[in-house]
Amino acid sequence: MKLFLDTADVKEVKKRLSTGLISRITTNPTLIFKSGEHPQDVYWELIKLGIKDVSMEVVGDNEKDLFARAMGHVKTYGEHATIKVPCSVDGLNVCKRLSTVGIRVNVTLIFSPAQAILASLAGATYISPFIGRMDDNSLDGMKLINDIKNTGVSAQILAASIRDPQSVSTAFALGADICTVPIGVFDKMYQHVLTDKGIEQFNKDAS
Ligand code: E4P
Repeated sequence: MKLFLDTADVKEVKKRLSTGLISRITTNPTLIFKSGEHPQDVYWELIKLGIKDVSMEVVGDNEKDLFARAMGHVKTYGEHATIKVPCSVDGLNVCKRLSTVGIRVNVTLIFSPAQAILASLAGATYISPFIGRMDDNSLDGMKLINDIKNTGVSAQILAASIRDPQSVSTAFALGADICTVPIGVFDKMYQHVLTDKGIEQFNKDAS
């Protein structure tokens, strides 16, 4: 069981690192766009913080472009780079080529067990089913996690697109190996009204 942070906000990552509960980060082009930073700056800043594994998404119109961008990241960031590719024919071809030479790949945008099987067979280290986006479209994100687990894929199931703490516990219970969570969800995982109430009472009684 592992927790990753799903963010490109380096300052917020820094604040949570001291918890020792998080060691890896997933990003995507939208998160990087929202950060207002250049992708290279985000990646380097995360690496300088001590993050050993940063999922860096590559985009492109064809396999050649995706592969070239992936190799650029590997050359620049070395073993810190996990290459994130979409679950498309081109993406999975690139996954196969990278995984064959020992490069970690995170296959993203997975919405069916069949896609998960193909990504795992292509040698993905991580496969990322998007729970929240399934639910947004009246599909069952948690069933997807369970269905993927039941296929017996060898890739690690990285539950993504997580919107609340309850989804984290349910995803783990249904077979996710890892959950990648936004900063807000990570912070909410600590919280319970009865914990706050209990602390208040114990502090009062101890004084
Ligand atoms: C996963 O790797 C993605 O970065 C992310 O979880 C997508 O989440 P969203 O559906 O909230 O954009």
